[in-house]
Formats: sequence, structure tokens, C-alpha cells
Amino acid sequence: MDKSTFEDDATIVGPMHARLPHDSAHKHVAGTADYIDDMPEPVGTLHGALGLTDRAHAEILEMDFSAVAAVPGVVCVLTAKDMPHSNDISSTHLHDEPVLADGRVQFHGQPAFAVVAETREIARRAARLARLTYRDLPPLVDVAEAQAAGGELVTPPLTLGRGDPETELQRAPRRVKGQMRIGGQEHFYLEGHIALAIPGEDDEVTVWVSTQHPSEIQHMVAQVLGVPSNAVTVNVRRMGGGFGGKETQGNQFAALAAVAACKLRRAVKFRPDRDDDMIATGKRHDFLVDYDVGFDEEGRILAVQANYAARCGYSADLSGPVTDRALFHADNAYFYPHVRLTSQPLKTNTVSNTAFRGFGGPQGMVGCERIIEEIAYALGKDPLEIRKLNFYGDKESGRDITPYHQRVEDNIIRRIVDELEASADYQERRAAIIEFNKSSRVIRKGIALTPVKFGISFTLTHLNQAGALVHIYSDGSVHLNHGGTEMGQGLYTKVAQVLADSFQIDIDRVKITATTTGKVPNTSATAASSGSDLNGMAAFDAARQIKERLAAFAAERWQTTVDNVAFVPNHVKIGDQLIPFAELVAQAYAARVQLSAAGFYATPKIHWNRSSGRGAPFYYFAYGAAVSEVSIDTLTGEYQVERADVLHDVGRSLNPAIDLGQIEGGFVQGMGWLTTEELWWDEKGRLRTHAPSTYKIPLASDRPKIFNVRLAEWSENPEKTIGRSKAVGEPPLMLPISVLEALSMAVASVADYRECPRLDTPATPERVLMAVEQLKRGDSPFQAP
Ligand code: MTE
Ligand code: MOS
Repeated sequence: MDKSTFEDDATIVGPMHARLPHDSAHKHVAGTADYIDDMPEPVGTLHGALGLTDRAHAEILEMDFSAVAAVPGVVCVLTAKDMPHSNDISSTHLHDEPVLADGRVQFHGQPAFAVVAETREIARRAARLARLTYRDLPPLVDVAEAQAAGGELVTPPLTLGRGDPETELQRAPRRVKGQMRIGGQEHFYLEGHIALAIPGEDDEVTVWVSTQHPSEIQHMVAQVLGVPSNAVTVNVRRMGGGFGGKETQGNQFAALAAVAACKLRRAVKFRPDRDDDMIATGKRHDFLVDYDVGFDEEGRILAVQANYAARCGYSADLSGPVTDRALFHADNAYFYPHVRLTSQPLKTNTVSNTAFRGFGGPQGMVGCERIIEEIAYALGKDPLEIRKLNFYGDKESGRDITPYHQRVEDNIIRRIVDELEASADYQERRAAIIEFNKSSRVIRKGIALTPVKFGISFTLTHLNQAGALVHIYSDGSVHLNHGGTEMGQGLYTKVAQVLADSFQIDIDRVKITATTTGKVPNTSATAASSGSDLNGMAAFDAARQIKERLAAFAAERWQTTVDNVAFVPNHVKIGDQLIPFAELVAQAYAARVQLSAAGFYATPKIHWNRSSGRGAPFYYFAYGAAVSEVSIDTLTGEYQVERADVLHDVGRSLNPAIDLGQIEGGFVQGMGWLTTEELWWDEKGRLRTHAPSTYKIPLASDRPKIFNVRLAEWSENPEKTIGRSKAVGEPPLMLPISVLEALSMAVASVADYRECPRLDTPATPERVLMAVEQLKRGDSPFQAP
């Protein structure tokens, strides 16, 4: 192990890049990791249940709770009027999201009241006894419906553009227009939403919440109660999955638990069951993408115009930044010489959609890859050839500018794709598949290689900051806290590695502690994949401060200079003496040296002006690519992913074991989104797929039969990120766009690849079958207009 240094670019080596297991891995598998529902409940804890409405759009004329109140064990019923100060938990400044519906129902399942009782069972059963009378209003459920009705928006749209796409589209030798529907997705975390509030003295309240965003919960609870933020403490040790669904969607449960706890002076817990959780909390936005692309005979893109309409639900929530990010990724890895992209964040009478891994980016990229496919089929070429032709180029080529005017300066997509194409034998396998399809009557195969380029940073610049708090106790053990939250992604382990590395101590000397607003304030959500970039750097900064103090102390005590002090494994080298780390700490304590520090980090360089559509919103890009091979049964539409090969860029990995886990998990989650997970609302706006019986997440048996996942080990972040690593959380979700395109190729084979199958997502077996039948009959709607 090399010695650690004080250099500020953090390119140190040691446990930081080691393949360590997730700190809680053994507890996850043994069932001994504590989630909020596992915590011992304070004596007298009460339990809440949501009262869901059963109209998509209506006025509430009356709410009669007499039958509810008569149930033994019911303690109280809360409505909007019981919110002490404000009934608002909107995460924007639009104030469009009530804790409980106040007079007006805006989606089927919107909570209008809550029941608090001695047990959860009593609360749930009693909630069903409420009688609500409504005056129905016409609902708008679907994106196309909302567009046709005039397209009311929940938040201002974005336009990105460059050049003169109108003229260039007209002048282009070839042109294709099309439309694609991209489905939404339920987060399906293993641990659902939950909040436990414990009242304190005076106006104080402590809330344990399964949240990615403790600071926002703190502010929402304070706002609803009408107390200052310093009266509210929010804690979270870990989530059983967040995936973006716990950036804002925990607000409601936390607010209700806190209101009830403060009113009743007893601990109150809200834990909705899975169906209520699925009905009442937001999901990934589904999109309707209209595209128009002009290209030359070789397949080079000349101009693109596209509109990204999204079902946002009844309120803004994160729909603004989500639909923005769809546009930021509507280019994926390709240069558009002339371009105009617009977002259309539509208001609908459905649950307010929210963040989900990739945050709109995946939808933008799926639309983009469809455009590539259109060009390939129109010209009778391999889509990979079209991809390569259109990749961003270097500065000299002039083909390195994004639709938001940021230059792509760290482009490694060609190397990633070339290496993967070779290692996965793409060309040989594609040729063999085309041969196979010629003679196979029922089973058809497809293969596709798709790239990923994903921008890292919050596009709202000020969110790119983080803090950490590090203590060394006098026995030399280290206490680590930071503003990031743990949702299974391994953030706590990675930040602990950074700290162990900085002090050159064994990782088990570092105690990882629950995230709390009481230790690190004003944090951003752990999101945008930037958790380790931000919190890792903040912890590094805290360690640097303490090390500087220790080094100064050691130099003085041993009569040398700080240059002669070095942190080496579990020791400190002072001149030619080797002192155990713990001993130096004990001596420093006795000499009254401060052994605690608050670290801070703000991402440099980035800036973004939304109104002009110009800036450099991303600190850097993460890259990757995947080749997927599928086989479909053309009589039933069923399919299998036969093999997937992934080459993914995480810069210099902070922890290759965890990063591989993120890539594999992200791939399977993205595959579920694009293939089997279907959210289905009926014409009354009722979500009919609200349990695993009707909503099909991938099973272990759905994973690719052969699954080769590799890190681009040669990659190093050219920016000064922690250990030159790159974010890994979201980008892998988009690798399985290759699965969708492989399915598309298998379908296209039934009409000899003459047409681009316009498979919408999720490409369920039903959709695959319908696409096959239509192509076979030749009455395909998949005609270029
Ligand atoms: N991995 C697990 N196991 N569970 C999760 O909830 N969330 C994803 C990703 N990986 C998630 C996950 C999402 S949406 C994001 S933004 C990142 O993790 C957040 O963590 P990070 O910034 O520390 O990577
Ligand atoms: Mo992730 S969608 O940014 O929480």
C-alpha cells in the first residue's frame, strides 16, 4: 500500500479501490440489517393508514367518518384541515401538492384522509369505512388524451436547439418521421415507504424515514407543522431500495406521522401496504416521443426535431428536471448537426410521477436509439454502422457539441464500442443469426449493440454540494457521517473506504453511521448518481483537515517538519519513527488537538442557463455499451435473453465489486422496464397493475442466460473526482436498450428486415406477437409516412 498524501486531487491509492463487500451484505442476506420497521417501537406507538379516494377527478362534497371513528382502537382521523400550518408538500415552488386532498381529487387513489389507530390492521380496516361523496369531473388520464385536450403543463417546458433543423430536414436526401410510446415504471423497492415520528419536548420531533432526501423531509415536516427546521430531526440508516422513488415521495408519510405524533404526543408510524404504496406514490414518467430525422444516403444524421411529451400526473413534483433530462439525453452518444428538442410535461389525472433511476434520461435515449434504427432499416444497414457513423467526434471534427452547447471533451465511446464489438464477437454472431433466421420457422433471433453516454451532475447547479462530519475518538476509532443516504448502492462502504484510505487505517476502524439532519445540514437528495462523487469528496476534505492537525502536532512533538510525517498502514511515520495511529491520536487528544472536522465539497466548473438552453450542466460523462442477443417465439411472442455482454466505464473504480453489482442490477432493472413491467390505467384512471400478480418485475430466471459484465479497467476520470472514479448508479439502467433493439431485429426478420418495427415499450410478449403478426400480414402500421 502506498502512503497517503495531502495532494488535493485525491488520486491516492489504498483500500479506496479495493473489492470490499458492501458493509451490510452479510446482514442483508441474514435478515439482520435493520430497516425502520425492524426498529424497536417506543411504548404506545400508534399506526396510520391512508384513506384513498376512488375517483380520478372530482370534487369532494362530503366526508363522513362516523363508521371509522366507531371502530374500537381508532384514535383519530386526520384531514387537510388538521395540518397545523400548511397542507403543502410540493417539492417545487408551485405549491401544487397537498398532504391530503382538500376538496378536490386529482387522481384515483389520492389520499384524502388518514386514520390513526392502536394497530396497523385496525387503521387499514377502519379507513375503508369512510363514506365520501363526490361530484365527478372529467378526467384526463393518457398522454395523447392530454395533448389533444390542449396540453396543460405542470411545469414550464424546455427547448434545446442549434442550427436550422427546419430547413435541413427539408433539404435532407432522406427523412423519417415516427412516434414512439415509452412506458413508465414502478420502483418496486423491497422496503416500501415508511415513516416513524417520535414527539420530543416543546416543538421538537424526530422522524425516521425511508428517504433519499432527509433535508427535504425535514423542511416539509417543519413547513406542515409550522415550526423552524431546527425543531425537526430526520434519520435514515438505510433504505431497502430507493431508485429515485424516495427523493420526494416520502414527504407525505413523514408529514402525516409527524402531525399525528405531535397532536397525540405518541410515536406514530405510517407503513402503507404494497398496493397502497403502488397506487398512491409516483413512478417513472411514460413518454410519447414524436421524431423527425433527416439523413444522407450513408446514414449520417443531418437534422433532428423531436418532442418529448410526458405523463406527469396532477402536480409538478420533479417533472421539470425529469423532462429536462430527457432532452439532455435525447442525443445519447450522437452528434446532431441541426437540432430542436422540446419537452411537454403534461398534466394528467394520475399519480404525480417522479424520479426513477436515470431521471428521464433513459426515455430520451430510448427515443434516440429508435431514430438510429429507423435510419438503419431505411437504408438496409446494420444499426451499429449507423451508430458509429454518428458518434460524437473530437474537437477538430467540429462534431463534439451537444444540443445544450456543452462540448463532449471526455469521449471514450468509440473505444468502448470497438472493444465490446470484438470481445462479444458481434459481427460473427450477427451473421450467424441472419443465417439462422433464414431457415428457422418459429424461433427467430436478434442481436443489438447499443451505447450509453450519461451526464453526471444535478442539472440544478446548486444541488451539487455535500458535507461530511468525521470524528476520531481518543481510542483511535473513527466515526463517519455524511449527507448521502444508503439505499443498497454501497455509498456508505465507498465513503468509508475513502476515509480508511485517507487515514491509512483498516476499514473496520471506521464506524458508518445513519444519515441525520442533525449532523450534516442542508443536504441534497442522494441522487443523480453523484452520491460518492459528492460525499466521498466531502469526507476526504474532513480527513484532510484532521490529518493536517495531526501532522502539525506530530511535527512539533517529534521536532521535525510536516514533510517528514506520513500516514502509513495503521501507523504514522514521523521522521524514522513508526507510531501506531491510535497512539498518535491519544497523544494528540492529550495535547488538546481537535479530532473532529466538518468537510465540504461543491462540484467545480458546471453551469447551466435554462432559459437560453446553454451551458455545461455536466461535470463529466459516464460511458458504457452492451450487446444483447434474444430469441423470440413468433407464435406466442415469448422471448429469452440468450446472452448479454457489457463493457462499462466507472473511471477508476472505487470498489469494483460494488460497481459490478450496480451494473448487473441496473441492467436487469432496465430490462424489466423495457420488456415486462407494464403500468396500466383504465379509462377511469384506476391503476390496474398494483401488485406483483399483475405487474411483472424480472425474476432471477429472466436474467440473461449468459451475462458477461466487465469494467473498462483502463478508464480514469480526467476530472479530479474522488480517486478519479466515475458515478455508476444510473447509467447501467440504459444498457438493456440493446435488449429492446435485439427484440426488434428478431421481429423484423419475419419481413426480411425491410421495415423498422416500431415496438413500443414495454415490449411485452403481447406487443412482440402483435408486431410479428402485423409484419407477416403486411398491413403493418410501421410505414414511414
Ligand atoms: N442501487 C440499489 N441497490 N438501490 C437503489 O435504490 N438507486 C439508484 C442507484 N443504484 C439504487 C441503486 C439511483 S436512482 C441512484 S440516483 C443512485 O443509485 C444513487 O446513489 P449514488 O449516487 O450513491 O450512486
Ligand atoms: Mo436517482 S433517479 O437520481 O434517485
